[in-house]
Amino acid sequence: MSFRIAPSILSADFARLGAEVSDVIAAGADWIHFDVMDNHYVPNLTFGPMVCAALKPHARTPDGAAVPIDVHLMVQPVDALAAAFAQAGADLISFHPDASGHVHRSIQAITGAGCKAGLVFNPAQPLDVLDWVIDDIDLILVMSVNPGFGGQGFIDSALRKIADVRRRIDASGKDIRLEVDGGIKVGNIRAVADAGADTFVAGSAIFGQPDYRAVIEQMRGALR
Ligand code: DX5
Ligand code: ZN
Repeated sequence: MSFRIAPSILSADFARLGAEVSDVIAAGADWIHFDVMDNHYVPNLTFGPMVCAALKPHARTPDGAAVPIDVHLMVQPVDALAAAFAQAGADLISFHPDASGHVHRSIQAITGAGCKAGLVFNPAQPLDVLDWVIDDIDLILVMSVNPGFGGQGFIDSALRKIADVRRRIDASGKDIRLEVDGGIKVGNIRAVADAGADTFVAGSAIFGQPDYRAVIEQMRGALR
């Protein structure tokens, strides 16, 4: 299993975002997780496609290799902003199916624009939609907090949901990433991986510490 660690810049210093992206990549980040909130689908407001485009040149390793930008849309409606983020350099774009009137069309809007598509499930959201679209997506993101804010506590029922998603991915035979978002720390990342996750968003756990590399290495150590 190849694990990915995706620091969420929601907890970064917004006054120096470009440097924060470069620094967390130099510290070992695999993806950059970009939380888009609209004060409508969720009760908070963050950043849009122009900020994504501005950060794109910073999403590179010190050797110059591109690091994927993992856009998590907490917005309603979905399709127009998804297209704007594809233009702005997003590599993966995920949305909440309950925020889209036409989930299959929203997936097509993302993949048709050349990005990988993901579906995000809130803590109380059922997985039924996967019965119909799992063959069309590249990523499933399980929320282990209610979306809208960093620094919340991990909701334990997410572990059962992760296990359910893992069964569905294995049954599909497809190469789909299983990402988990919310309350991930050095102390629980192993249990989340054991439930079946392979990609881990972490905001406050990484950006809340002075030494990003130390945290990411401790996370990788817990996963080994
Ligand atoms: C919450 C966001 C998360 C957030 C996680 O709505 O989707 O990505 O940054 O923050 P932590 O890791 O602090 O729970
Ligand atoms: Zn997120």
